Amino acid sequence: MILGLDHIAVAVPDLEGAVKRWATDLGLTLDGTEDVTLQKTRTAFIAIPAGSAHVELVTPLDGQGPIAAALEKRGPGLHHLCFRTDDIDAEVARLKAKGWSFTSEAPTPGAHGTRVIFVHPKSTGGVLIELAEHPVSTP
Ligand code: CO
Repeated sequence: MILGLDHIAVAVPDLEGAVKRWATDLGLTLDGTEDVTLQKTRTAFIAIPAGSAHVELVTPLDGQGPIAAALEKRGPGLHHLCFRTDDIDAEVARLKAKGWSFTSEAPTPGAHGTRVIFVHPKSTGGVLIELAEHPVSTP
C-alpha cells in the first residue's frame, strides 16, 4: 500500500541556489544534505508538510488553456507542485518583495473553492509552483 508522499525530486544545476529558494525564500526546512556517491548525486532534502497532499491529474478542458500548451510543448509529465497557504495575498506580497514573479497579477479561482496563483518558473529554477488558499470552513 502507498503510505504517503515521500518526496518530489527536482533536478537542479546549482544546489546552493536551489536551497536558498526552497528553504530561505519559501521558508521550508532544510533537513540536511548528503552525497550519494553510488548514484553520483548530491542531495538536499527540504521538509514539506505533505500529510494531506494529493496527486492532481490535470487535462485540458475543450482542448484549450495552459495544460494544452504544456502537453503540446513538453508532452505528458510532471507539471507543477502546489503548496497550501493560509494567506495567499501575504505570501504573494512576501515573495514579490524577494523578487519572485508570478504568471498572473493576482490570485484566481481554482478547484475546491480555492484561490490560486502560479509562480513563474524563472523564479524557481524551472519548476512551476502553485500556491493555493482553501476557503475557511465554517462549522
Ligand atoms: Co494544481
